[in-house]
Amino acid sequence: MKLGIVILAAGQGTRMKSSLPKVLHPLAGRPLLSHVLDTAHSLQPERIVVVYGHGGELVKDTIDQPDLLWVEQSEQLGTGHAVQQAMPLMQGVDKVLVLYGDVPLIRKESLQAFLDNTASGVGLMTVTLADPGSYGRIQRDASGKVQSIVENKDASPEQLAITEINTGIMLVDTDRLQQWLEALSPQNAQGEYYLTDIIAMAVRDGVEIHVSQPEHAIEAEGVNDRLQLANLERVLQRWQAEALMRDGVTFMDPARFDLRGTLVTGTDVSLDVNVIVEGRVELGDGVSIGANTVLRNVQVADNVCIRENCVLEDAVIGPDCAIGPFSRIRPGTRLIGGAHVGNFVEIKNSTIGPGSKVNHLSYIGDTQMGGGVNIGAGAITCNYDGAYKHQTVIEDQAFIGSNTALVAPVSIGADATIGAGSVITANAEAGKLTVARGKQVTIEGWKRPVKEK
Ligand code: UD1
Ligand code: CA
Repeated sequence: MKLGIVILAAGQGTRMKSSLPKVLHPLAGRPLLSHVLDTAHSLQPERIVVVYGHGGELVKDTIDQPDLLWVEQSEQLGTGHAVQQAMPLMQGVDKVLVLYGDVPLIRKESLQAFLDNTASGVGLMTVTLADPGSYGRIQRDASGKVQSIVENKDASPEQLAITEINTGIMLVDTDRLQQWLEALSPQNAQGEYYLTDIIAMAVRDGVEIHVSQPEHAIEAEGVNDRLQLANLERVLQRWQAEALMRDGVTFMDPARFDLRGTLVTGTDVSLDVNVIVEGRVELGDGVSIGANTVLRNVQVADNVCIRENCVLEDAVIGPDCAIGPFSRIRPGTRLIGGAHVGNFVEIKNSTIGPGSKVNHLSYIGDTQMGGGVNIGAGAITCNYDGAYKHQTVIEDQAFIGSNTALVAPVSIGADATIGAGSVITANAEAGKLTVARGKQVTIEGWKRPVKEK
């Protein structure tokens, strides 16, 4: 069976009150539409067509997938009209599956069961809700056979009491769909071409309607406003945390964790509350992450402890390192095994060698640091001259006294010691003490000024 998928994404999303098209609003850090596309791709269809409208160019540019087909619906005349725009691109496919760009939680498993359940006839995905709200109602006859879908705005009080609703997800033979779409008319409360009207047409033509329900009703929930978006965000975050817990991750509180990307974990990883993970993050065995820490595109090796309130981005952390609390690790940082980075330390585009310690109040930028180095409290690299960035090299076992400024480009030899408070503007020799500061003097007979009476 050759499957085509149409994703409807032309709606304005007025209730989002946003300049961003609705389907580009992020859920777990990615556009709503990207979630639907991932699920669509997982069914391995012959073709995927996205129907876009409002803000369409931006949607196309943002999503930018080479194997997608795009069709514009310049005027939003209804869901039936939207599907019709995609039909010229559906030639040669046997069946068309209709999905919605703003219904992001629909799962692959539910759609696969739906496809399997609809070997012939029309497939219709419904859910039963205590509060059926503004959804289309599923009208069944006395024997329980589906007769039609009645839109909320066209429904009688009796029909409004029906709790089985249309999710909008349908599977229809391509040729039949084409015929029925051509026969739609906008004679209804909204003056729209309703895709839902094809159900009554199918029944009239003696085509069977196969109804499926997704595993969780929430899968069929759409995003119309930011309240619904926030609600789905929490649901998806919960699902992601559950999957990680099943993989053996410990959360102090899974409700206070946000994954906006991909997290790969080893064994015995534990995360304290309010950890945010973005992009692609890998955590090795025995890694623990403290509260309020943000990890963005980082690779963390085994037995690393990252304490509270750290921000790490585009960095690689070797085994047995200790970071934080309150450390900022910026892009291009590489910590080799066993390094320690402590409070109020910022590191950018630098390598910190094995076992080196930068424990208090430092800025290290554009630096190649060897192993066993000790950086005293408040010591910094001055890597920027106002126009250019320059490199600092600190060789193995060097000891940099507190509050030293290393003015790059500069090199500190192996085993060198720099006296506290030095301003180092020339290379410091290996194995020797270098001091670059005003010499301490005591002024005899000096008196503090006093106010005249
Ligand atoms: C539609 C269904 C309703 C169902 C509900 C589920 C129809 C007539 N009604 O209602 O039975 O319960 O979805 O959420 O189908 N869209 C376009 N072009 C258009 C109109 C809509 O692309 O001209 C897209 C929207 O972007 C959205 C989807 O279709 O992704 C649904 O549109 P929406 O207006 O929300 O449909 P409803 O009227 O709520
Ligand atoms: Ca809707």
